Amino acid sequence: MAKILTVVGATGIQGGSVVAAALKDKIYKVRGITRNVNSDAAKALKAKGVEVVAADVNDVDSIVKAFEGSTAIYALTNFFEPFLTADAEEAIKVEELQGTNLAKAALKTMSLEHYVWSTLPDTKRITDGEIEVPHFAAKSRVNTFIKKHEELAKKTTLFFVASYASNILSPVFKPIEVPAANLNIQLHPVGPSTPHTLLGSPTNIGLFVLAVLHQPSLTLSPSTPAVLAATEILSYAKYLELWGKVAGKRTAYVQTTLGDTEKVWGKWASEIGAMSLFWEKAGSRAWEASGGERTIGRVELGLRVKGEEGANVDAEEGMLVGTEEVWRGMEW
Ligand SMILES: NC(=O)c1ccc[n+]([C@@H]2O[C@H](COP(=O)([O-])OP(=O)(O)OC[C@H]3O[C@@H](n4cnc5c(N)ncnc54)[C@H](OP(=O)(O)O)[C@@H]3O)[C@@H](O)[C@H]2O)c1
Repeated sequence: MAKILTVVGATGIQGGSVVAAALKDKIYKVRGITRNVNSDAAKALKAKGVEVVAADVNDVDSIVKAFEGSTAIYALTNFFEPFLTADAEEAIKVEELQGTNLAKAALKTMSLEHYVWSTLPDTKRITDGEIEVPHFAAKSRVNTFIKKHEELAKKTTLFFVASYASNILSPVFKPIEVPAANLNIQLHPVGPSTPHTLLGSPTNIGLFVLAVLHQPSLTLSPSTPAVLAATEILSYAKYLELWGKVAGKRTAYVQTTLGDTEKVWGKWASEIGAMSLFWEKAGSRAWEASGGERTIGRVELGLRVKGEEGANVDAEEGMLVGTEEVWRGMEW
């Protein structure tokens, strides 16, 4: 019988990347979950041979049914959907319920061998209670829920996803043009040397997930409880400098206060600012798993970035794409 890989969020960025990589890999029969099987995105998946099923992560019974018979599951929640219309506290509640529903449904999936949970680290633990980042908070509470359920924990890889290259177009990161100064600036409440861990192209997510699924002895071992999907780490200043080089613009990094950024972007500044402050405070501990253990990355998984030293320049297939290359493919 064919092994089934079920992908939550199959119509979105992360899930879509996992579906694309799995269809190429051909090891799994791919099942995609969506709330609307009649959307254009769902129809496009069907046309590629994906079994598209309807389920809502707010409704645990629908997820149990959609997971039935799965060998592997890629599961995620989308904090930013409730955050669009609610405050951060309410969005955390919604996301925690959704993530817990997914874990409960995974616990009921008898055929399940590998659960890949798209999540983020516990910022409060890492900063000794100082910084809670709302879009990390519910995800890390779900990590704790999973760890409490040994049956699921032993089948789970905590899958940390770093910053998409496309975030440069989002509020707070999009450089602000100041024509009078012939400059493009970014305003952040942290110092320019703050580390920013980057995913590169979202298409990398699928490559990471397939590498995780193919190496269970590495990714399900109790001593390596988390995987980080990332291509590179740049400082905040270098990130803007790199964008300036690619876009052909003069740039300036401006450090200011969280309060000042909130005057510009409101709750988006609070959200992204909390993340930036966490990264500044956490430094090299930013991607620690919940017990403080080591998190494994692309090198341990055997993944290479196109163009990096030692990479085979002719081997496009299966290579990760870094942030600079994504930006070079965009219009500025
Ligand atoms: N931006 C970054 O750099 C970054 C980095 C790390 C982590 N993240 C996290 O990534 C998550 C967002 O993932 P994404 O970028 O893939 O989002 P996306 O492209 O907006 O896609 C969201 C997906 O979730 C599905 N979905 C949403 N609510 C659902 C529900 N109630 N039931 C079933 N499916 C539902 C949607 O499916 P349908 O609409 O078809 O139902 C869609 O496929 C966020 O939680 C964010 O914190 C982002």
